[in-house]
Amino acid sequence: MKINNKHYHTIWVDDENTQLIQVFDQRFFPHEIKTFDITNTDEAAFAIKEMVVRGAPLIGVTAAYGMYLGCIEAKDRSDRQGYLTQVANKLNATRPTAVNLSWAIKEIQQALSVSDDPDEKIAIALAKANQIKQDDIEVCYRIGQHGLKIIQTIAARKNRDGTKPVNILTHCNAGWLATIDWGTATAPIYQAHEAGINVHVWVDETRPRNQGANLTAFELNQQNVPHTLINDNTGGHLMQHGMVDLVLVGTDRTARNGDVANKIGTYLKALAAHDNQVPFYVALPSSTLDCSIENGVRDIPIETRDEKEVKYIQGRVNGEIKSVLLCPETTPAANYGFDVTPAKYVTGLITERGVCAASEEGIKQLFPEKF
Ligand code: MRU
Repeated sequence: MKINNKHYHTIWVDDENTQLIQVFDQRFFPHEIKTFDITNTDEAAFAIKEMVVRGAPLIGVTAAYGMYLGCIEAKDRSDRQGYLTQVANKLNATRPTAVNLSWAIKEIQQALSVSDDPDEKIAIALAKANQIKQDDIEVCYRIGQHGLKIIQTIAARKNRDGTKPVNILTHCNAGWLATIDWGTATAPIYQAHEAGINVHVWVDETRPRNQGANLTAFELNQQNVPHTLINDNTGGHLMQHGMVDLVLVGTDRTARNGDVANKIGTYLKALAAHDNQVPFYVALPSSTLDCSIENGVRDIPIETRDEKEVKYIQGRVNGEIKSVLLCPETTPAANYGFDVTPAKYVTGLITERGVCAASEEGIKQLFPEKF
């Protein structure tokens, strides 16, 4: 997608130096557009843990390139295999909820198992990381195509002349900045916008890190998609008053029973959508499916983060990015990063292979190989 009218991916290998992986430093969006260099495995782990990059698919791709850098670091070591296992463990320990992280690491490990030659391993890991990246772009595009049909149906039902916008509420950032291109929840929105459908997006700010305000608003703005920023708590009110036609969110891990983990607060949106008969769709690449987990609410690991993220808020003051304290300094805060929405509140899962029910049967129909 575009920033200042130029097309970018969220992660790329430098043209001249293949040992340099570059990403946008998402900690500074929308105020500053900076890149961050990843040249070794510690920097890859830092980028994921500190949310330089974030969003389940991008976390996965970054970890894949981290494994590639691990192969370079392992080359001259006597304990090559042991070292690569340590790198995999280090990357896996960065964030617990998005399953794309462990999925991408396993994909690289599997690809590496065919060779013992250190140079060959480096080449294999780079090729596989590049492929995971390319696949994510294709998969998100296809999610967009399937989700577009849902938006087209609502647009047609709502009005013949297209004057009334299809109002879509999204939570957090499941946009192109969470993936490589297109996004998951935003892919249908971008494709509907490109197809000339009148769409308008309600953007939840998503405290405490404000990925909605900082990232989703930024990227929709850059693509000229009409949108309005709302605070986290506004969705229910809008739904009660017929101002939301569709809720469209992403997910960091979807369990075998169709329960979906996503940014904290998603569950409350699903409850409000259910109470107001607003369709609630979840867009996901199959790399986000975790069929080893039978019951998502019970078993998906939920990340807890530093209380400072709740107690302070970051923004731009007089041109400088600053943090300000919101509460008494000594007040304790709890910071759960994600919650799990039970499958019964999910109208459907939009995947690269089509839309299915959020249930074991539904997922099995599209992805039998996952079981
Ligand atoms: O904590 P983050 O910013 O990594 O969380 C991101 C989300 O919760 C997204 O909605 C989710 O990863 C889906 S991304 C396509």
